[in-house]
Amino acid sequence: MNTSTIYMGMKLRNPLIVGSSGLTATPEKVKACSDAGAGAVVLKSIFEEQIEKDLGTMSGSSWYPEAADYIGRYGMDNAVSRYLDLLKDSAAMVDIPVIPSIHCFGSGKWVDFAARLEDAGAPALELNAFILPSDPRKTGRENEQALLDILTRIKKVVSIPIAVKIGSQFSSLPTFARELDHAGAAALVIFNRFYSLDLDIEKLEVIPGTNFSSPQEAQIVTRWISILHPILGCDLAATTGVHDGQGLVKQILAGARAVQISSTLYKNGLGTIGAILAFLVDWMKRHGHTSIDSFMGKMASTSNPAEFLRVQFMKVSVGE
Ligand SMILES: Cc1cc2nc3c(=O)[nH]c(=O)nc-3n(C[C@H](O)[C@H](O)[C@H](O)COP(=O)(O)O)c2cc1C
Repeated sequence: MNTSTIYMGMKLRNPLIVGSSGLTATPEKVKACSDAGAGAVVLKSIFEEQIEKDLGTMSGSSWYPEAADYIGRYGMDNAVSRYLDLLKDSAAMVDIPVIPSIHCFGSGKWVDFAARLEDAGAPALELNAFILPSDPRKTGRENEQALLDILTRIKKVVSIPIAVKIGSQFSSLPTFARELDHAGAAALVIFNRFYSLDLDIEKLEVIPGTNFSSPQEAQIVTRWISILHPILGCDLAATTGVHDGQGLVKQILAGARAVQISSTLYKNGLGTIGAILAFLVDWMKRHGHTSIDSFMGKMASTSNPAEFLRVQFMKVSVGE
């Protein structure tokens, strides 16, 4: 049974990637993920603000004031060299790809740091582009352009493949995804799960929301992977809501080349990796597949997805 896959040109022993999070914040934790069977890991992100503060290239005026204040106080000294050490030390301990991640929102001087990651041996880079379209003065096009600018600038300084992790809130995701594809993204990672907030209605305070995803959240990912797979040249990685083997198989059937998981590992431990992979192998056997490629994208959307969804909804609604 061959569970290997090619993601962004890298051969992974299987399509299961531990997503960027505290689970990949130290070389020891990366090794534990590898020992548990992961096909690759994405390191915990370094923030654009941390890079610029450390390198003394802060473009301050474009920063969110509270973020600047936080980084000013807690940005961690030597964030850049510590991150490069995290990459090098982690890669030295494992045989799987270790992909660094930058959490960014603008295309300032921090972009040059990407070249240092490449020099340090990064096989690829993931960008968590934090574009939350919350500013009423910015048009959808301006938000999209901000992300395209980041990708275009990064592509000028590195030659390693770049994955772009995006949220779902774009008015025409297929159009924008195609633009990212044409601008040279090697993969799209969908969907970024924004840190969620909640309201305490007794204390009238904003409080942290639920950190971890639920399996239901994967449905929107499956839908968009299946719509995007047939129209993009770049790879797709699914993230958000994959908690078990069934979830992994669904995303691959929809068209994902790789699947990133975090929440289920926090909740259920790293042993979940082995359980998911055992399910994958068993499912492949039961369905007569000897490779990932033989079923990847088999259930991608082929018809008109809008029409298909409308009819499905009619069946539920009119039939009531
Ligand atoms: C505690 C925690 C920390 C995270 N830190 C990062 C991060 O540094 N960078 C990033 O791109 N995503 C980060 N994420 C998001 C995960 O990589 C992932 O995209 C998200 O949790 C959805 O996948 P899941 O449903 O498997 O958890 C974090 C998630 C959690 C739960």
